[in-house]
Amino acid sequence: MKLKEIDDLAHNQKQRPKTLGLFDLSIMGIGAIIGTGILVLTGIVAATDAGPGVIFSFLIAALASGLIGLCYSELTTSIPSSGSAYVYTWVSMGQTVAYFTGWTMLGVYITTTATVAAGWTGYFTSFLGELEIVFPKVLSTTPFNGGIINLPATIIVILIMLLLMRGMSESKTINNILVIVKLSIIILFIIVGIFSVKVKNWSPLLPYGLKGVFNGASTVFFAFLGFDALATSAEEAKDVQKNLPRAIIISLVVSTLLYIVVSLVMTGDVFYKKLNVAEAMSFVLITTHHPLVAQIISAGALLGIIAVILAFIYASSNIAMAMSRGGFLPKKFSELNNKTGSPNKSLLLIGIVAAVGAGFLDLKNLATFSNVGSICVFALISLAVILLRKLYPNLKRPFKVPFGMIIPVSSILICIFLLSNLPFSAWLNYIGWLLIGLIIYLVYSIKHVEY
Ligand code: ALA
Repeated sequence: MKLKEIDDLAHNQKQRPKTLGLFDLSIMGIGAIIGTGILVLTGIVAATDAGPGVIFSFLIAALASGLIGLCYSELTTSIPSSGSAYVYTWVSMGQTVAYFTGWTMLGVYITTTATVAAGWTGYFTSFLGELEIVFPKVLSTTPFNGGIINLPATIIVILIMLLLMRGMSESKTINNILVIVKLSIIILFIIVGIFSVKVKNWSPLLPYGLKGVFNGASTVFFAFLGFDALATSAEEAKDVQKNLPRAIIISLVVSTLLYIVVSLVMTGDVFYKKLNVAEAMSFVLITTHHPLVAQIISAGALLGIIAVILAFIYASSNIAMAMSRGGFLPKKFSELNNKTGSPNKSLLLIGIVAAVGAGFLDLKNLATFSNVGSICVFALISLAVILLRKLYPNLKRPFKVPFGMIIPVSSILICIFLLSNLPFSAWLNYIGWLLIGLIIYLVYSIKHVEY
């Protein structure tokens, strides 16, 4: 097993413009985290898995994300690199684990981009519907579902890719606006919905028992994905050692608080059994006789979800760039644009793959591997904290996870627990992705890897 030296990383990294301050980073984290998870999954998980106890599912998933977020914070501050988990595993577990970690992250981030974009089409067509414009179904449906292409999803991915290619200083302004819109509609939902809460709707609290709560936690974990994507911005962060861990924690705390209140309001407004719908927020508001607010929320979601797409394209292109620096992918993907400092070839690669995926593939089943893949990476991250403390006891750690090894070990255990609650089909998809990775590794990467 050959470990990469931490000192070698610095030689490999070209300076990128430092454009992201604490506010931008926190907004970017919130932008990546809050998205289709809370909008789509909450109602479905409440109806089919956890009942009003969905709030506990969110709390468990938040606890897991918090522990993992602390581990990320220690690693990003001691080894600031866009490669994130891929780099941390390379310096602690060697080349093969690093490659498959990077490969997993690429798969997870691209699939999340495509899935979220495909979900966005639903909001887009229903928004047009409200304006009495009918968008042709064959152009908003993939060939797997009887259409020709999911065109809105393809176009939104391409547009975001083009925006990111103009550099982070332009993209962040648009991102900040999108995230503020998204936060506003969630707060609006809470303010309007809270007055219709009926305590009797929270009973029975756990209709499907603890098992339902745990299954729900593994599913709603998707709603927290994104704090890890933030870690890939390390090379563009100002005062990274202070700002990045703070942004990770701030975005997790804000999202958790909003998720808890939204799930309380949703299950308090409408009996959980009726919540098995994809657009639960609008559904709840229509049921409680607020159709205008429901419309505002749908329009806001249309804009807000774009921020998730932006954060995940950004994160995947950073991973592709980092893997190319290491020789696992062709060198051209780590070239930076002279004017913007962005890895434009990586962005183009990721944008095209995600746009094709969103336009033509049936992502519903494929996307289930996002949770498996991410949680596996998170377990490795936690292990990397432990190993690096042994391998590099004197490494400068501006942020150190408190209480010795307790948090990294608990984080590994909680990841194993969450993995054990995920369906077998999700594992099968993940194994399929790893096999494709193995072929590329054997045919290309192993011959080009650099130490
Ligand atoms: N956490 C992101 C979402 O819920 C992936 O859309």
